[in-house]
Amino acid sequence: MKVLVVGSGGREHAIAWSLAKSSHVDKLYAIPGNPGIEAIGTCVPGNVEDLEGILTFVEDNDIDLTVIGPEVPLCMGMADLLEDHGHKVFGPRSAAANLEGSKAFSKDFMIRHNIPTAAYKEVDNLEDAYAALAEFSYPVVVKADGLAAGKGVVIAEDEATAKATLKDMLDGKILDGAGKKIVLEEFLTGFECSLLCFTDGETIVPMVSAKDHKQVYDNNKGPNTGGMGTVSPNPFLPEGMNEVFKTDILDPFIKGLKEDGLDFRGVIFIGLMIENNKAKVLEFNVRFGDPETQVILMRLESDLYEIMDAVASRSLKDVDIKWSDDQVTCVVLASGGYPNSYPKGKVITGLDNVPEDIVVFHAGTARNEQGDIVTAGGRVLNVCAKGASLEETRKKVYDAIKDINFEGVYYRKDIGLH
Ligand code: AMP
Ligand code: GLY
Repeated sequence: MKVLVVGSGGREHAIAWSLAKSSHVDKLYAIPGNPGIEAIGTCVPGNVEDLEGILTFVEDNDIDLTVIGPEVPLCMGMADLLEDHGHKVFGPRSAAANLEGSKAFSKDFMIRHNIPTAAYKEVDNLEDAYAALAEFSYPVVVKADGLAAGKGVVIAEDEATAKATLKDMLDGKILDGAGKKIVLEEFLTGFECSLLCFTDGETIVPMVSAKDHKQVYDNNKGPNTGGMGTVSPNPFLPEGMNEVFKTDILDPFIKGLKEDGLDFRGVIFIGLMIENNKAKVLEFNVRFGDPETQVILMRLESDLYEIMDAVASRSLKDVDIKWSDDQVTCVVLASGGYPNSYPKGKVITGLDNVPEDIVVFHAGTARNEQGDIVTAGGRVLNVCAKGASLEETRKKVYDAIKDINFEGVYYRKDIGLH
């Protein structure tokens, strides 16, 4: 089979790495991919938002399955375009991808289908927004409706901050129009956890748990990032939550998809707040998480191609998905300055010396004119190890990191601990 992975991050490298192990996959392509993926497949220059260009590639190269990594092309309708031309796709159609593409759409979906979530109000002008503030206590959560690359949520501690945030978002001064509509939301307390599931719209199968560390500095300090490191399983998840997730969230989610006629075949990544053994949904993402995917797929014992093909063909119920009992740790090596501005093009050394039991996924790397691997993003590399315990894998990862270097490299030292 010929498989195309769309995307260029650590998530896509991990997906490609897992697919490359499948006996069904003869030829693996990535658009645009990255230097890590080059070692296991063919990277083809291109833009993930160029829907027509990707359709042409799929047709010219007889691709059997296209796996769409990021949310932007999903929300733009890449799955719709490819499927409407008769091609198999892993990733939801745009109407279903709206569960991530529009906060207002996803809140309405949750309320109508009795999925527990924070109380909210949707507004699209300043007058209504200011008036609606009276219905909330502080802190209040202000969310831009559209995709905002992780920057669309503000927790406002007081009325002045809330009003200033609403004004900036609604005036379109920030977020490129993602804030033309706003969701005001009750602030929830508890601890956060992510639940990633495969679904074909009929069957939903949770993956093993993972814990992301979103803040940039140790001890959960500093601004939020896309994720500075992950561990699987999530050591903080209370016992017995799987039954709660199934009854309270996954069953109504599938029922809701069916009732609304939403064709969802891919990964649903559910952000949850847990308190007193009850879970409420903070958000839906319609794709694998990054860097959750890296640790989760390292524990997958089944063939990822078979799972993805079954999802795309609506036969997920026939697949038995097996996971290893291992513990996996992933530490993100970031460019100094991330999540704010950071330099690019710094030569990375030591990648050839990492021990065999360490997996390094490339997240933001490129090749310079001399052929060296250089930094090309905020999150640069994901250093991962599998083992019997968190203690063991933390030691393996942090030992391996000592030999990898680039100017300004920064990483958290406490992944898995808080
Ligand atoms: P979201 O993109 O909706 O998941 O929001 C990003 C982050 O903001 C979440 O991971 C939470 O840390 C926080 N957040 C979002 N909604 C709420 C809420 N209702 N109560 C408390 N924190 C929230
Ligand atoms: N790690 C969080 C995300 O992928 O959205």
